[in-house]
Amino acid sequence: MRKILIAGNWKMHKTQAETKDFLQAFLSELGDAPDERGIILCPTFTSLGVMSKNLHGNRVRLGAQNLHWEDSGAYTGEISGVMLTELGVSYVIVGHSERRQYFGETDETVNLRLKAAQNHGLTPILCIGETKAQRDAGETETVIENQLRQDLVEVNQNNLVIAYEPIWAIGTGDTCESTEANRVIGLIRSQLTNKEVSIQYGGSVKPANIDEIMAQPEIDGALVGGASLDPANFARIVNYQ
Ligand code: PGA
Repeated sequence: MRKILIAGNWKMHKTQAETKDFLQAFLSELGDAPDERGIILCPTFTSLGVMSKNLHGNRVRLGAQNLHWEDSGAYTGEISGVMLTELGVSYVIVGHSERRQYFGETDETVNLRLKAAQNHGLTPILCIGETKAQRDAGETETVIENQLRQDLVEVNQNNLVIAYEPIWAIGTGDTCESTEANRVIGLIRSQLTNKEVSIQYGGSVKPANIDEIMAQPEIDGALVGGASLDPANFARIVNYQ
């Protein structure tokens, strides 16, 4: 069964104190969002501990924004799967376009990180998507197919979430048309051996467009950046109509 998953990617935002404040407001705003909607929050590494404690006994699941493929070693600035699971993390974003663009992430390292996540019982959220230039050049389909082919080598599709995030739509307010996101997500699904993988849309998702996005038949959820930083906005997104 394809699960509905709404995830907040906080990127490099919020201190521990701000995280606590957010949770207090968010959990009270959440109301009775239908049980079948999975809710995930991916704060910075420094806020994972405080979030884990404050989510105890709660339906919100904890996610991280990256992990290294080794369990330990001389990898300054990295964090491993075993460190994440100790904190109660169950999801981890892998291959976000900001990591690919600013931190030298390649399809090879994305693949290593995906397999490491699964070896630790974490569910990776693999991000893929095309740049504006690639879209304008009519290369969207090829880019997506190449990313999937390289990223998913020996990856178990029974424990995987994919987020289609057109790079030109991230943080720009320029959302991809919901029907176009639906089309590309359908294409992604056609490339998978497991058709039940949940596939999210990400890129300028906000309260004003979530209802339309979630009305699309191929879209199983959203990966939300900016709008997940505000408790009322994120609660409204989770409670899409
Ligand atoms: P955005 O970010 O919602 O701020 O566009 C989405 C993402 O990068 O995951």
